[in-house]
Amino acid sequence: MSAAHSTVTDTPVITTTDLRKVYHSRDREITALDGVDLHVREGEVYGVVGQSGAGKSTLIRCVNLLERPTSGTVEVAGQDLTALGGRTDRAGAALRAARSGIGMVFQHFNLLASRTVQGNVELPLEILGISGKERSRKALELLDLVGLADKARAYPAQLSGGQKQRVGIARALAGDPKVLLSDEATSALDPETTRSILQLLRDLNQQLGLTVLLITHEMDVVKAICDSAALMKNGRVVESGTVAELLATPGSELAHELFPVGGEPSGPDRTVIDLTFHGESATEPVISQLARTYNVDVSILGAAMETISGRQIGRMRIELPGPFEDNVVPIGFLREQGIQVEVARTAAAARVKETVK
Ligand SMILES: Nc1ncnc2c1ncn2[C@@H]1O[C@H](COP(=O)(O)OP(=O)(O)OP(=O)(O)O)[C@@H](O)[C@H]1O
Ligand SMILES: [Mg+2]
Repeated sequence: MSAAHSTVTDTPVITTTDLRKVYHSRDREITALDGVDLHVREGEVYGVVGQSGAGKSTLIRCVNLLERPTSGTVEVAGQDLTALGGRTDRAGAALRAARSGIGMVFQHFNLLASRTVQGNVELPLEILGISGKERSRKALELLDLVGLADKARAYPAQLSGGQKQRVGIARALAGDPKVLLSDEATSALDPETTRSILQLLRDLNQQLGLTVLLITHEMDVVKAICDSAALMKNGRVVESGTVAELLATPGSELAHELFPVGGEPSGPDRTVIDLTFHGESATEPVISQLARTYNVDVSILGAAMETISGRQIGRMRIELPGPFEDNVVPIGFLREQGIQVEVARTAAAARVKETVK
């Protein structure tokens, strides 16, 4: 599975501006979102990652206004959702209509046990007031799309976890949404099933031009299907961009998580450097040139190569003898070759950095 080229356009589909959400519990305030600016473009699969409590679910619930933000705005497909809704019936109806253009997939599927698979998919169509015949046609079409045409009459209890999530996805697509939101849709599933559900989301993204905003805490998910990603911490987005941009950002935490290149220094007084190569710049010639030009012993501690959005990206961790101060010139040479160079955050490197300051 790889992140295939999709037709991502520059049209923004989800934009949040200075989004804040403060929860008031009995004796204190919890700032779940602390000024979030999110930009999701049409046709992309966008992953939000971050530790438990970072505010990911709150963000996604604010995007479809299941949760009303304390301040800030949410625009979906050019419509300011935060301006909709309110006390009057008409305002509520406008918000409901806008929401039907946003599908939502849940971690625990949230299927109704008393309804058949088809009945579950028809539910949002009933709420939209669509006639019985049309409802049934649409539900069967969606079940076919998610590979469950033969399960229309089954009940949720008769399905596997992966099948239940397929029903959840079919139901989310009932209102022909432009946007699909997914909060940990695969975290209750085994790895094999996870892969098939992710592939389904990717296929729907490609076939229907659906924009997908998903929350996960698995970096593999981001690597496998996301065009872009954001890292949340304490209610803020601390890093965001296309996966390729993130990899090109020195010091990016997401890049480190996506591309862990291992390897500890072989002894004290070594300089460990992480190199990131983009596109055509070839690795080996540069390393051997470095060794020859500066007459240094370069050891390769670890390396990884991946294709991100059709571009080759490689990471390599190398070790040079001597402390950082002795290696300023070779490091400068590597930078001149257009390679992204970072002194690695190993325990030894941390000590070196401190002495450099
Ligand atoms: N309804 C609520 N009332 C009070 N506090 C809440 C409420 N919902 C969330 N919070 C708090 O807001 C913060 C962000 O929660 P949120 O559920 O968005 O985190 P998350 O990133 O989705 O975490 P996880 O990975 O565990 O799902 C947490 O401190 C949480 O306790
Ligand atoms: Mg959550």
